[in-house]
Amino acid sequence: MPAAADATPAQLAESLLAFWADAGVDAMMLDEPFDRIEAGRVAPPPRPAPALALAPQPGPRAALQADISGAIAQAQAAAAAAGDIGQLVAAIAAFEGCSLRTEGAATQAVVYRGTPGAPLMVIGEGPGAEEDARGEPFVGRAGRLLDKMLAAAGLEGRVLITNTVFWRPPGNRTPTPAEQAVCAPFLERLIALAQPRMLLLVGGASAKSLLKREEGILALRGRWFEWTSTDGAAALPALPTLHPAFLLRQPGAKKRAWQDLLTLSERLDRPGREG
Ligand code: URA
Repeated sequence: MPAAADATPAQLAESLLAFWADAGVDAMMLDEPFDRIEAGRVAPPPRPAPALALAPQPGPRAALQADISGAIAQAQAAAAAAGDIGQLVAAIAAFEGCSLRTEGAATQAVVYRGTPGAPLMVIGEGPGAEEDARGEPFVGRAGRLLDKMLAAAGLEGRVLITNTVFWRPPGNRTPTPAEQAVCAPFLERLIALAQPRMLLLVGGASAKSLLKREEGILALRGRWFEWTSTDGAAALPALPTLHPAFLLRQPGAKKRAWQDLLTLSERLDRPGREG
């Protein structure tokens, strides 16, 4: 750096900035705020057209969710027309009213596995990738854990396993209440045709949907509720429990799920009951 008298203005400015930087001054401010936009010295960025004056227009998915009553009516008619479980599976596979079908993750309908007429129906949330590939519910890691737990509780071969929705949600997200509502007539018909004596509701999305409750699964699990069909004609005891996918992430919670299964098998096999 030349002597101050010989320095150019740029060199002087650099030297001053270096001094300030060493002193910890890393931002330049005026004594008073200066509104450059107000002063017209900087043109304000163009504002988007005032679309906010209008009510926001729903996208195709929101519009579909907003009016699902037509899809529910179609599902009710198709479900009611199914005289047995084979016809019901065919009706679900042919049904086009559930938006999950067109969201890109589902390649086929996944309806149930297990034994129609079994005393217990297990209802999960919705199929994942492996379930979609194989066309059967709970056949991935979570399903293998569920099978082990059911077998340990003496329930192997005594269950029919299904979900609240029959198509894989994209990214394995939780099915929405609207998607569950559209699939519900088929699920109710499956319950009517398979005739279980009890329901095990696996995970919060299943428990909330079937029982029409708002609490989380940790508050619902392990307590008996009564599931009732939409027309109120059928009712079954229903026990919410933790989802096996949750148990894989939180093995410490397995004890609580195990207690739930013992509660369930005890009630199922109480003297005077068969199945
Ligand atoms: N999780 C569910 O809730 N259902 C399945 O079928 C698989 C994983």
